[in-house]
Amino acid sequence: MKGIILAAGKGTRLYPITLPICKPLLPVYDKPMIYYPLSVLMQAGIRDILVIVPPDDVQPFQDLLGDGSQLGIRIEYKEQKVQRGIADAFLIGADFIGDDSVCLALGDNIFFGPVFNRKLKTAAKLDNGKGATIFGYYVPDPRAFGVVEFDQDGKAISIEEKPKHPKSNYIVPGLYFYDNRVVDIARQVKPSARGELEITSVNNAYLERGELNVVTLGDEYSWFDAGTADSLYDAAGEIRKAQRSGKMIGCIEEVALKKRWITIDNLLEQAKSLEKTQYGQYLYGIAAEQEDAE
Ligand code: G1P
Repeated sequence: MKGIILAAGKGTRLYPITLPICKPLLPVYDKPMIYYPLSVLMQAGIRDILVIVPPDDVQPFQDLLGDGSQLGIRIEYKEQKVQRGIADAFLIGADFIGDDSVCLALGDNIFFGPVFNRKLKTAAKLDNGKGATIFGYYVPDPRAFGVVEFDQDGKAISIEEKPKHPKSNYIVPGLYFYDNRVVDIARQVKPSARGELEITSVNNAYLERGELNVVTLGDEYSWFDAGTADSLYDAAGEIRKAQRSGKMIGCIEEVALKKRWITIDNLLEQAKSLEKTQYGQYLYGIAAEQEDAE
């Protein structure tokens, strides 16, 4: 399975902060926002990743993440020249996806919670490699999101994008797993009233075929769309609080080490330039732990 991070939004809801720096590079507590979706793709076992960035903005992403080899993965970059909506990611990424299945993560969506990696690995398997798997997450006010309606048996029966009168409180967060047909499906999507190729149209195409699996995430999970000043602040606060337990969220080097995509020496090399930070000290800690375990 391939992975795509859509990190091309202008971040207009965060102006003036995002005038000189694009949203996915903003700090969320102690690390850049893009570390969170990247760590999610890596936890799902995905090593081949395309990052879609705003026009003329490859360089800062490259400065941060390079070609991914330091994490034992492969990262490439492509620009989204015109903002045409989330489903455009599959058109931009068509060659990159090739014959493979694909997981799309939105660059400003942050997830964490207990044994999330197991949920991700299951989602990445799809239904024997077929169909689509997305998530449903309860929020008090779902009107700004894709909203999923369930029947009495808990089966998804409709998804609506930003409904004025939502049929449930379950929104569809920005993490989507699809088989290879998603590229053709995205090619057939027509722009919505707001002029975008909506991801909800893609999800509805799978729903109509009876091939959409919606996994609900309970309240032991945290999810943030860190696209506004308040949600960015809330996300940072929750991450800070959760990390007091000693477990780092969104630590891409840790995922790479646990997956054995890099060695302890590779990790220590990267920890060196970060040693003045808690993040760097955490890397030293997990290296020592791993050494003891071996
Ligand atoms: C997008 C999707 C929406 C989804 C949300 C998650 O909304 O269109 O279905 O629930 O991301 O963050 P947008 O960011 O375009 O408002």
